[in-house]
Amino acid sequence: MPEAPALFPQDIIRKKRDGGALDRRAIETWIRGVVDGGFADYQSSALLMAIFQRGMSPRETAWLTEAMMRSGEVITLPEITAPKVDKHSTGGVGDKVSLILGPLAAAAGVCVPMISGRGLGHTGGTLDKLESIPGFRVGLSTDEYRRQLAALGLALAGQTASLVPADRKLYALRDVTATVECVPLICASIMSKKLAEGIDALVLDVKFGRGAFMKSLPEARRLARAMVAIGKAMQRPTVALLTEMNRPLGRAVGHALEVIESIECLKGRGPADLMEVTLALTEKMVLLAKLEKTPKAARLRVQRALDSGAALAKFRDTIRAQGGDPAVIDDYARLPQARRIVEIRAESAGYIRDVDAMAIALSGLRLGAGRERVEDHIDPAVGLSDLAQAGTRIANGDLLARLHVNNERHLAEATALARRAFTISKSKPRLAPLIREEIA
Ligand code: URA
Repeated sequence: MPEAPALFPQDIIRKKRDGGALDRRAIETWIRGVVDGGFADYQSSALLMAIFQRGMSPRETAWLTEAMMRSGEVITLPEITAPKVDKHSTGGVGDKVSLILGPLAAAAGVCVPMISGRGLGHTGGTLDKLESIPGFRVGLSTDEYRRQLAALGLALAGQTASLVPADRKLYALRDVTATVECVPLICASIMSKKLAEGIDALVLDVKFGRGAFMKSLPEARRLARAMVAIGKAMQRPTVALLTEMNRPLGRAVGHALEVIESIECLKGRGPADLMEVTLALTEKMVLLAKLEKTPKAARLRVQRALDSGAALAKFRDTIRAQGGDPAVIDDYARLPQARRIVEIRAESAGYIRDVDAMAIALSGLRLGAGRERVEDHIDPAVGLSDLAQAGTRIANGDLLARLHVNNERHLAEATALARRAFTISKSKPRLAPLIREEIA
């Protein structure tokens, strides 16, 4: 057979620009070019914008995901016979579910190969939270990752240089070319990384609302359907829960503060909203792992792992295995602490009608808890704790939040944002359920 003529970047860009569908070869040529330099950054940027404007069919999205997944090392874990299931969240405010769910699922018998990301913009990242534990190392080599999974059934690691290099490049370009909020691109970015980490199945927490990437339920549904379809096409059963992210999850936002709240959850003292989402996602992992046949049995198994202290012990072992100080579990003073605490108190009595997740996130950012760019430094000690939750009855003067402050420069702004986040009403509000839909 004569060899097909070479595809030039401009031909591929033109095709998508004019609304055409890219075939598998064109997509593979692009992704190869992203990694080996055959596509200049300006050409990838143009193609990203064409995809943003014109979209991609499910077939194109599947080819893109697969090409990205194969752009680097694809980890397989044949030596581990336990079912390997991970969870991925599209990100939110106070979303520390991974820190609780990882040990919980592992204690329930699931092997959890969890490769997480850093926070960007207003959302926090699991890796940054873990790094607030003194000594905790997220930069595991593939060999260390493998050995730890075999020994503990849980590894909480960052993406190695060899895993999906195409995403690292494309994500950085998307970030500066206004092409992040695009379902096929988000879907391929997330799923290529998850499929390369060695999982058998995947649970997704697709968030919608003020504090999420997807602002509306229909948008989140579209993203969830696309990701579930890709997982299935790649023979990795995938289930998504659509969960509301209008209000912060739990009562703490900030790295060390979220570690403390996660440990409290593992000790059985977690806030109801955070535990509801965590237990539901972990239950799905147990079902996908085929450790139980019914949701009821799966929930019981997860609850036992929590109540027996096995999940807390698993977190302690994982911290120790990754070089962290396991004594933080019993002594929170070993975690970074802010110099000053500023309290915000209610100026009227009634019920907390609403807590604006975005205002809380921005308040945390002003205190230094987030980063605007990947290379920015974050302060692990700062943030907000003791957030009063929607539906709570309060008296005039009751505590609404504690701000943990190291740098006073933006304190006035942070305080104003936190105060503005709370709406108080005379009547008890009716709160919509947090978990809205399941897509499987
Ligand atoms: N998280 C990712 O890893 N990629 C995206 O595109 C969006 C969120």
